[in-house]
Amino acid sequence: MKEEKLRELLDSLSMTEKIGQLIQVPGNMLNADGQELGVRDELGIGDELLRNVGSTLNVVGADQVRRVQEEYLRRSSAKIPLLFMADIIYGFRTVWPIPLALGCSFEPSLLRRLCAATAQESTAGGVHVTFSPMGDLVRDARWGRCLESTGEDPNRNAAYVKACVEGFQEGLAEEGAGKGIASCVKHFAAYGAPEGGRDYNTVDMSERRLRQDYLPAYRAGVEAGCEMVMTSFNTVDGVPATGNRWLMQDVLRKEWGFTGVLITDYAAIAELVTHGVAKDQKEAARLAMEAGVDIDMCTGCYANHLEALIREGALTQEQLDAAVWRVLSLKNRLGLFEDPFRGADAAAENRLYQNESFLALAREAAAKCSVLLENKGELLPLREAGEAEGTQAKGERIALIGPFADRKEALGMWAIHGDRKGVVTIREAFAETPGLDFCWTEGCETLLPEDYTDLPVLAERGERVCWSEEKRKEEWARALEIAENADVAVVALGEDEIQGGEGGSRTKLTLPGDQLRLLREVRKRVSRLIVVLFAGRPLELREVKELADALLLVWYPGTEGGRAIRDMLFGKSEPEGRLSMSLPESVGQLPLYYNAFSTGRPYDGKTANRFFSRYTDCPNAPLYPFGYGLSYHSAAYGPTHLDGRILKRGGTVTVWAEVTNTGSRDGVETVQLYLRDVTGSVVRPVKELADVRKVFLKAGETRRVEFAVTEEMLRFYGRDLQYRSEPGLFRAAIGADSSVVPDAEFELED
Ligand code: BGC
Repeated sequence: MKEEKLRELLDSLSMTEKIGQLIQVPGNMLNADGQELGVRDELGIGDELLRNVGSTLNVVGADQVRRVQEEYLRRSSAKIPLLFMADIIYGFRTVWPIPLALGCSFEPSLLRRLCAATAQESTAGGVHVTFSPMGDLVRDARWGRCLESTGEDPNRNAAYVKACVEGFQEGLAEEGAGKGIASCVKHFAAYGAPEGGRDYNTVDMSERRLRQDYLPAYRAGVEAGCEMVMTSFNTVDGVPATGNRWLMQDVLRKEWGFTGVLITDYAAIAELVTHGVAKDQKEAARLAMEAGVDIDMCTGCYANHLEALIREGALTQEQLDAAVWRVLSLKNRLGLFEDPFRGADAAAENRLYQNESFLALAREAAAKCSVLLENKGELLPLREAGEAEGTQAKGERIALIGPFADRKEALGMWAIHGDRKGVVTIREAFAETPGLDFCWTEGCETLLPEDYTDLPVLAERGERVCWSEEKRKEEWARALEIAENADVAVVALGEDEIQGGEGGSRTKLTLPGDQLRLLREVRKRVSRLIVVLFAGRPLELREVKELADALLLVWYPGTEGGRAIRDMLFGKSEPEGRLSMSLPESVGQLPLYYNAFSTGRPYDGKTANRFFSRYTDCPNAPLYPFGYGLSYHSAAYGPTHLDGRILKRGGTVTVWAEVTNTGSRDGVETVQLYLRDVTGSVVRPVKELADVRKVFLKAGETRRVEFAVTEEMLRFYGRDLQYRSEPGLFRAAIGADSSVVPDAEFELED
């Protein structure tokens, strides 16, 4: 529709019809089936308004979307098509590895490809907007939503968010193409830093830290052209984000120039009352509107109070019109006025899901995101029966043990539209492999009541099946028996899916249930032990590290997880992932991140003197550092060289090192450049990842890997909160992970 016509449409709307555009309701209020999210009849939204609401969430599937849209258009007076938004976080029907795993790929182009594929699937499923990507930086593994973050590094997160937005929105700008879905970057801002890692808890930090570490990823999403942004639940400097004018108006809209639609997180306007910054829902509606929030997700605040606020002069007609205009413009850019059913096509939806290229992409992603933490004696990869050489000679028997050996649910909490039946488990992948001699059993459950406070209630409600005492004994005995009779054990353990995701905060990060005990028993019975670890966050792995010969962290690997794991175990593919979040030695170290500030008393890790910044019962260092991961090849890094000592503004300094594949297999090395700003007007981190290059090296090959350092890469928020570099001494290091110490010196000259 031409802009002029759209203006006419806006002008023709009644006050109720306009307000309707700013309201999002759950699908059950629009007579959609299968919507369990928030039965909110108490919203008090009157009939006329309900017939004209602007959007709904998590109603997906071509048939369903068509039916709801058709019925809606029949009843609505304004006849403006409904927007269908959904949480399509890491895949729609085809599920990819969780975002924390995707962060381990160190390959933004992979995320772009995945999101473009997801957009294709979602378009066919009738979806217009996805509430993704999540740009929240994470440093505290107690927070369950680490699962949805790409990790602890601001620069990497920014690159990933940009790639996701570009992938989702590919083709969206082409008029009439009906391609791509609108991307909503969330949760603005700093939702990933709740105190104590407890979800929805207070976030409080300096503006410097906010700008330096937490905002860059959201900003990258805005600069990549994301159509929407979602507010977060938390406070930012004492004011909940949803009513935070400074954050939404000054930073997001004025500084960054965001012109798209701003939506709240679920029921967040009403929470302004609970937070205690609004005395009632009317005041909450006013605060949110003044902050520039366009869409009220699932409360009655806008529905019940906007009209009165405008009539009383507390808000203006112009404010209302501006918000409605942004929503209408998005609908227009999506082409909904020409085709309200935009792409919703059940046959295409099915075809795409079964599409071999999507499954291959899911397999590729799982290998690129899995992190090999241990590989003692080069146990992995195993050779398949019949192959001439290798660890598993013909006739050897594998014991596949553990609660994740055959688990379809191992997708993580936010794969809410994923097809669980289509998930390939490790057992299924083993079973379809000719000549593989294996026995399997679970051995134990993932969880016991002490690991999850609400477990007994869930069991009582029939939402969880807990084993009987008899079944526990049988499984345990069988696991030990098959371990006894095997040559090699593959033990698939992990964190239960309900322990992570939204509301999934934990204070203990060890393996839950009887899993560690089981591992100890299996260890006594086999000479070669491989642990395949499923998780949605960093876990405490000290004991697992010691017990296992090989330890492969697959996170929640997605639809093709089982096949990807089999391929990695047998060397058909190489686990390529590098940690995007430090794995702690102990939960007591949290928050933990590699790019920490230098303290006045840095500890060398050795000296017996308590008056340093250190723990007296635990090292400062993580168990496995950010950027770490092994491969099936090995690599040696030469010293870091610089092609000059002076960097001038507008110029570059080349930093390089020779990297050699010292192993007997070809492989991909993730070469990392870390920089340190030695002296600044404010304290600078001990190192920062400046760039990454994934390099394919043939066995025995040596390559000179180069990075160009520019002045822009050295900028930060100085004492006056201006973003710029400061002349002086810098140090650089090229290495395989964040444990390298930058020591090659150069100077930035003014
Ligand atoms: C979550 C968001 C999500 C929204 C809609 C909220 O509870 O925090 O991430 O997009 O629900 O489902």
